[in-house]
Amino acid sequence: MRRRKFNKIIGISAYVVSVSGFRLIEENGVYTTSCASSRDMMGPYYRKGAPIRNDFSYAGNKDEVPLRVKGKIVGVDCNKPLPNIEIDIWHCDHNKDYDMNSDEFKCRGKLYSDHKGEYMFKTFIPPPYGGRPKHIHYLIHGTEEYQELVTQVYFKGDEILDNNYWVYPRDERRIIEVFRNDEGMAEINFNLYLSQKS
Ligand SMILES: [Fe+2]
Repeated sequence: MRRRKFNKIIGISAYVVSVSGFRLIEENGVYTTSCASSRDMMGPYYRKGAPIRNDFSYAGNKDEVPLRVKGKIVGVDCNKPLPNIEIDIWHCDHNKDYDMNSDEFKCRGKLYSDHKGEYMFKTFIPPPYGGRPKHIHYLIHGTEEYQELVTQVYFKGDEILDNNYWVYPRDERRIIEVFRNDEGMAEINFNLYLSQKS
């Protein structure tokens, strides 16, 4: 019978615990935390080589709601912002299609977190397709210190989401409320918490 693995909760400095209140978890030499972002499926539509950009606007898309996405990439202590992290973003276009071939790389882009660990891009709320709720894909590339993270963000209030079996695992921290920002534009804030390599 295979031996069951146990997460080991290890001691950390009282100062960090009192500020952030997180738990540092070690399993087989890999560190993660109670705040680490959950993973989601990659899906079949990732493409390498997306251009560096933070505006996914394109001509011919008049009906979808413009959206600003902001967030922060955070380290294993659930607090430290991580600069210069490479992020791939992709989602379907207004026709519910993924651009798999064109040089336009429609609705795809590569970003880097800035010196404060923050990222931002402008796009639109993607329509649902194939019975799935509205979603945006993320691939956070790993570094020497941090593991790669593949995940997706969803939108609070999406009716499809409530009965959807594709959200795996269901994680309320990845179902984000849309609000209207100071410029009158729809916006979501989505932070991503990475896990450390061994
Ligand atoms: Fe998708």
